[in-house]
Amino acid sequence: MSLNEQIEKITDSMDLTAPAPEDEPYRQYFFIRKAREQFRALSEETGRPLTFDVVTFGCQMNARDSEKLRGILEEIGFVKSDSEDADFVIYNTCTVRENANTKVYGRLGGLHALKNRNPHMMIGLCGCMMQEPEVVETIREKFDFVNLIFGTFNIYKLAELISRVLDHPDEMIVDIREKADRTVEALPVDRTYAFKSGVNIMYGCNNFCSYCIVPYVRGRERSREPVDIIREIEKLADDGVKEIMLLGQNVNSYGKTLDQPVSFAELLSEIAGIDGLKRIRFMTSHPKDLSDDLIRVMADHADVICPHLHLPLQSGSTEILKNMNRHYTKESYLALVDRIRAAMPDISLTTDIIVGYPGETEEDFQETLDVVRKVRYDSAFTFIYSKRSGTPAAVMDDQVPEDVVKDRFGRLLTEVQEIGRERTARFEGQTMDVLVEHVNEQDTSLVTGRLANNIVVHFPGSEDLIGEIVPVKLDKCHGFYYIGSRA
Ligand code: SAH
Ligand code: SF4
Ligand code: F3S
Repeated sequence: MSLNEQIEKITDSMDLTAPAPEDEPYRQYFFIRKAREQFRALSEETGRPLTFDVVTFGCQMNARDSEKLRGILEEIGFVKSDSEDADFVIYNTCTVRENANTKVYGRLGGLHALKNRNPHMMIGLCGCMMQEPEVVETIREKFDFVNLIFGTFNIYKLAELISRVLDHPDEMIVDIREKADRTVEALPVDRTYAFKSGVNIMYGCNNFCSYCIVPYVRGRERSREPVDIIREIEKLADDGVKEIMLLGQNVNSYGKTLDQPVSFAELLSEIAGIDGLKRIRFMTSHPKDLSDDLIRVMADHADVICPHLHLPLQSGSTEILKNMNRHYTKESYLALVDRIRAAMPDISLTTDIIVGYPGETEEDFQETLDVVRKVRYDSAFTFIYSKRSGTPAAVMDDQVPEDVVKDRFGRLLTEVQEIGRERTARFEGQTMDVLVEHVNEQDTSLVTGRLANNIVVHFPGSEDLIGEIVPVKLDKCHGFYYIGSRA
């Protein structure tokens, strides 16, 4: 029986005449049942099934959380819609950079117009942005049509919160916690893909990089117990999942805070032995904690652990790295890359880089370019530094003028793209395995998938290949992707 089927059986047996249990996850099973009853009444009133849409902003962590939110909504009885013209819309927000917030505020106006046309519409906001008190304040003042606000620490409570919203449709329900009180396992999940899945191995972050808001909105680092992780992955593999992505803000520090500490390398090597899995990915790796054990485990299990490492650089200047609280130097980063490449010569390396961090000089920026040229990344996410209030960097005096930042950003992008194109083309003419993800949106005679090293490939094929791993000849590289043909 799948996890969702087991949960359904337990929720069906919950007694609604008794008070809600205090223990989790039983409390949530109770509220799933309760919300289902409330919801049925509402659905009868409208004479049609009620729909929902969960819109995800931000990183893989949020994408995984959204699968959990969707799982609960479906268990209650909502039907998934792919449009925001739905009866319950949830924005799962990100706040890592200023423009993430701006985007959400901009789109809330559009939701208001939809809500004016649909009297049953409910709007929920959750995720990282909601952990900032001034955001909640702004929403109360300017977007009072929002029904529900919750944060990153209580998404497991969605059923309970919906039950409250259904009881009080004209109020704004706000439930924000300042820290994680518990990790609740065994709640329903609606996976976006049948054949691949994210798996949280840890939550939160203890690194406090000086520019970054994540530790403030996601709380302290908490690792899940290895047995819970392994059990979840075994179930996924039984269910036909071929690829998993282990998720954490810094997977390399996994397990340090457990009662019986386990290293990420140990966890990974155990996961590599799970039957049925074809591809294991993980992110994100902080360079300061990447151990030689991990490199060895990756090399030893190259058949199943993907030859790809996302290794955020942030800056190539040792001075700036020190100020950023990153705990590595330009030299130690380059030495680490050498060790990784010595063990896995063909590995794909990708990175994140911030331009315009306070105090960054042209010389500092040249150090970044130097690392980019030495490492030769397959691809890189480049970001303009964004001031996040509450972080130490936001109050530093020497913020870099906008025109200087833009100029550096342009130069970096050119370099990164040129190298990325050259690197990506290195497999031209070879035949490699592609895990097919979907039919190509622009040209439906093609399907789109990924190589183990994460490069995207389009090739002629049809829907029935989705979820299959097929050998494909990489005929032509077009910058960051290949056009191929069945080998
Ligand atoms: N835990 C991951 C990163 C999570 S945030 C790590 O340590 O690598 C993803 C990326 O957003 C970061 O790597 C960084 O490059 C970028 N970022 C974070 N805060 C930022 C800010 N204030 N301005 C610009 N980019 C930022
Ligand atoms: Fe942010 Fe640094 Fe933690 Fe990554 S490691 S989430 S950049 S504080
Ligand atoms: Fe954004 Fe939160 Fe992820 S701030 S990047 S969604 S952890």
